[in-house]
Amino acid sequence: MTNENFDVVIIGGGPGGYTAAARVASLGGKVALVEKEALGGTCLNQGCIPTKTLLKSTEVLETVRKAKEFGVEVDSPSISLEKLLSRKQAVIKRLNSGVEFLMKNSKVSIFKGVGKITGINKVTVSQDSEQKVLKTSKIIIATGSRPAVIPGLEPDGEKVINSDQALMLQGIPNNLLIIGGGAIGVEFASIYHKLGSKVTLVEAMDRILPFADEEVSNGLRQLMTREKISIHTNAKVAGVIRGEDGLVVNVDTPKGPQQFNVDQVLVAVGRRPNIENLGLEEIGVKVEKGKILVNSMMQTSVPNIYAIGDASGGILLAHVASSEGVVAAVNAMGGQKEMNYTVVPSCIYTSPELASVGLSEAQAKEQGIQVVVGKSQFVGSGKALAMAENKGLVKIICDSESGKLLGVHILGPQATSLISEGALAIKLGATAEDIAETIHAHPSLPETLMEAAEQVLGLLGSVHVK
Ligand code: NAI
Repeated sequence: MTNENFDVVIIGGGPGGYTAAARVASLGGKVALVEKEALGGTCLNQGCIPTKTLLKSTEVLETVRKAKEFGVEVDSPSISLEKLLSRKQAVIKRLNSGVEFLMKNSKVSIFKGVGKITGINKVTVSQDSEQKVLKTSKIIIATGSRPAVIPGLEPDGEKVINSDQALMLQGIPNNLLIIGGGAIGVEFASIYHKLGSKVTLVEAMDRILPFADEEVSNGLRQLMTREKISIHTNAKVAGVIRGEDGLVVNVDTPKGPQQFNVDQVLVAVGRRPNIENLGLEEIGVKVEKGKILVNSMMQTSVPNIYAIGDASGGILLAHVASSEGVVAAVNAMGGQKEMNYTVVPSCIYTSPELASVGLSEAQAKEQGIQVVVGKSQFVGSGKALAMAENKGLVKIICDSESGKLLGVHILGPQATSLISEGALAIKLGATAEDIAETIHAHPSLPETLMEAAEQVLGLLGSVHVK
């Protein structure tokens, strides 16, 4: 058993934890990062990065399938799952080393093993039969989350899978039923559909991506349906019968009960914070509804202990976890920084992509704000047409009095990159006029944002040779 002293010990090396560690180090603190698996957390190892790597492979597949349309003659493409998976692993490995390098460069001490808070100023790291005790002034909990389970439909890794297992792509099922039309459900629907599965998506709410602006989420549903992904909303799985060959899934839909014979079911009904066996109860850290309670400074009910990312269960996004990590790090080092969630881009990597920032039209109206809405369709964009990706729209919500942007919602090509202009505009308090009067490069996809802003200003009909 060894003893070492730190200013801050962070449990969990995902985007929240490693960002916090780097910030503590840059503020001059002596910092330890405890991680039981590979650095990078869910985002890098079982989430954002591997899904985007697979999506890129399916995009290439799609482009090759459409090659003729672009005047390129090729033989019909086929998929090598082995190569596709090895590329995914290579990307993960490279980023793992990148994070490790960043930590070493920042002089962050990495401890491999399971961390537990064993005293108000003490974290014990266990690996195999060895234990190390780290003494510290402050602790940051950044332990992330894991896929939620539907009781009675626990994943077996073969017929019933969760998102971690879906990424392993053990095979391509002929028929896949996905429970949950949130971010994970729709992204995997897109991946598996392009790989050749017949996909059925079952969502309990009245639309997929219920948190997104209704118009863009309905737009995505239409496009996915057109691609022959079968989507059932207001629908609930009533039961699953596991057979020899596959599964029989009974679903209650608004049209009555329906039965689906499928090879695999993917459960994507949310994630649960990893907060067990951390010693929280013993130390008095308050937990509510399965999440660690924190204030706007990311501080728990025990003042020298902070919690960030999925463990405190606010908005479960890697970039939010990183931002919370910075806030916790600054405060742990004696600062006074508060989290602000007004400008959080949300990006869904489907085809086309969907991205939002700020308020939806409905949210703005619920808050009693008078709004002006401007829209522009990608169908009129020269760049989008040249790319053969001219489906979707940009929708801008502005305050009718001040003209300030309140929300930007995009369904279309590269929406997840385009949303940054909206995020920055909202952050800076920009108006529709500011966007409309900014010269946007031609031809480019962001022109569509400019035109949505022009529509807010009533300049509809203004002609751009796009
Ligand atoms: P989610 O909370 O986004 O969506 C789950 C969906 O399942 C909800 O729409 C819910 O109404 C539905 N649902 C719940 N129980 C159901 C049932 N029994 N039958 C039918 N539908 C049911 O959770 P998801 O998609 O699992 O993602 C987990 C977290 O990870 C989310 O917070 C998400 O934001 C984040 N994530 C973000 C990504 C991104 O931003 N691109 C990608 C993947 C995950």
